[in-house]
Amino acid sequence: MIEKVIIDTDPGIDDAMALFFAFQSPEIEVLGLTTVFGNVDVQTSAKNALWLCELAKQQLPVTQGCARPWIGPMSSYAHFVHGDDGLGNTQNSPPNGQLDPRHSAQFIVDMVNAHPNEISLVAIGPLTNLALALQLDPMLASKVKQVILMGGAATCAGNITPAAEANIWNDAYAAQIVFAADWQVTMIGLDITDKLRFNQGFLDELKTANPLLGGYIDRAAQCYMDFYSQGQTQRECRFHDVTTLAYLVRPQWFQSQLGKLLVSTDSLTLGQTVFCPQGQGLSEPWTSGPYTNVALTVDDQALKQLYLEVYAL
Ligand code: BDR
Ligand code: CA
Repeated sequence: MIEKVIIDTDPGIDDAMALFFAFQSPEIEVLGLTTVFGNVDVQTSAKNALWLCELAKQQLPVTQGCARPWIGPMSSYAHFVHGDDGLGNTQNSPPNGQLDPRHSAQFIVDMVNAHPNEISLVAIGPLTNLALALQLDPMLASKVKQVILMGGAATCAGNITPAAEANIWNDAYAAQIVFAADWQVTMIGLDITDKLRFNQGFLDELKTANPLLGGYIDRAAQCYMDFYSQGQTQRECRFHDVTTLAYLVRPQWFQSQLGKLLVSTDSLTLGQTVFCPQGQGLSEPWTSGPYTNVALTVDDQALKQLYLEVYAL
């Protein structure tokens, strides 16, 4: 079965790794890329998405979406992780392609209504576009096949603050809206992605598997490895975002748990994802509302092998 997806992204080096995986996989049909602020400002995010499509020779609609979080001040961008251009300082030419003129949220609404119950929304940036799409079409949630998102930390510490993972922290109010909607959400958080480490040996294999796309990821990831290796004995990085697409095609490889997932908007713990497994909530707000499927463990080696195989196709 071929999975239809819209990928909501803020490219981002690990976003690039995820997008190329989706483009390469015969099990995935990418209907479009919707972009959002996050690792970079939204204009750069949209430009990077166009540029990555051109490199991978993909003709797809790319839209620009939300530039700011739902409520509250703008956080700073993650140039210290992803480089000045968001793609490891690899970019020296602008894209040739044009953006689809629609806002990302409108594009999501239009596509879901054109393909009801067929589209998986894969969100690998802050959740602002998804929250806005839910407001534009109040019936949207009932027409989406599933949402798979990279974000949060149910059983471990955060990566942008001790409490929060970056995508959720960037827009905690939008995340609240998305987790509270009546659709099937799978959260792939730091519980899994922080443990999946990639070293230069993996990047060399990725480059051999696909000299164009794997070679690009190898170049872009050098700055990313610099960030993740500070103060460490091993030179490694985390490709968080691609794990969502691995889940899309191999959900049976993941051990997950259903439960209530609430997002903190308190200043000290902004963006913290608090998880209460099904059956353990004794009082409100833990006893009502939709459940989230939270991925907790996966076989790292199997995923790495999958990435190499799909890049090699
Ligand atoms: C997430 O934050 C971004 O920097 C990455 O692209 C990923 O989506 C990891 O916390
Ligand atoms: Ca991302």
